[in-house]
Amino acid sequence: MTPEKMIRNLPDQMVWEEIGEDVGRFSKIVLCGMGGSGIVGDIAKSWLEHRGVKIPVVSYRGYGLPPWAEGKDTFVICTSYSGNTEETLSNLETALEMNCHVVAVSSGGKLEDIAKERGVRHLKIPGGYAPRYALGFMLSKILCVLGIDRDELEDAKENLRENSHIIEAKGKDIAETVYGYLPVIYATPLTEVVAFRWKTQINENSKTQAYFAVLPELHHNEVVGLDNAEVRSRCAFILMFDPKDHPRVKTRVDITVSILKDLGVVPVVLEGEGNSYLARLLYLIYIGDWVSCHLAMRYGFDPLPVRVIDRIKKRLSEIK
Ligand code: F6R
Repeated sequence: MTPEKMIRNLPDQMVWEEIGEDVGRFSKIVLCGMGGSGIVGDIAKSWLEHRGVKIPVVSYRGYGLPPWAEGKDTFVICTSYSGNTEETLSNLETALEMNCHVVAVSSGGKLEDIAKERGVRHLKIPGGYAPRYALGFMLSKILCVLGIDRDELEDAKENLRENSHIIEAKGKDIAETVYGYLPVIYATPLTEVVAFRWKTQINENSKTQAYFAVLPELHHNEVVGLDNAEVRSRCAFILMFDPKDHPRVKTRVDITVSILKDLGVVPVVLEGEGNSYLARLLYLIYIGDWVSCHLAMRYGFDPLPVRVIDRIKKRLSEIK
């Protein structure tokens, strides 16, 4: 399947199902995964926090688990699209050692094998995609584990479907704007996860460096760097926010736009559109997916291969 087809397929990947995990009985949640599978944990964490979850939720990347993750009241979800990512396998091993309640999500691989061997619930998603193009499969599975309503998921899916042409066109336009420049994405607390997805999609699909910074923190450091006209002129700025961000954050978005304009920079400003926070997050994420795909083509790259990642994984598998 081509990258364009896989991106177009995102809404169709989002399917609601009754999973029947009783999330209310846990006192903490750890969402584990790396790269294209890790972002799913970030989105789920933001979604849970926005709906007012009363327990700590951590999106964890790396080996093992945080030291406080132990016992049956810790819910650990291990997500790896391939099922072979060593950090995620390590999370699973540690979660079992620490007696946590675990659910594993993958299209197969060792994660599925180990889960089956050890009596861990495994939720299977369709194979045949690159992990970052399987966001809808992984995210909807995890949100269903966490108890999302059917209507909320369906509405977010419909929002992507209905706006798919506008979204793709916006992505193409923005790709043209950032072509030749270092993309710098400024986000807000409610859009941080989107900015991170944009960065990683531009890295992997467009084979291009990109970075992001988040308000209000960026008003305490990043903005000072804008004084350097020589470096600034090599950057293309994108600013994104959610209508439900804190009012003072919104004020800071406006101030940031005016600071950039004073410096002669016209940023691309994007507001999430949709009925729910999830719908708005996915709307902005979807624009970014298209940006990264069109930017890749503009630079003459095939968005799909990630040769360096494959090389690193191969090297690691040879060193025990
Ligand atoms: C490749 C990609 C990578 C992988 C990451 C972890 O499309 O996006 O970031 O997601 O290397 O691999 P999985 O997802 O198989 O656990």
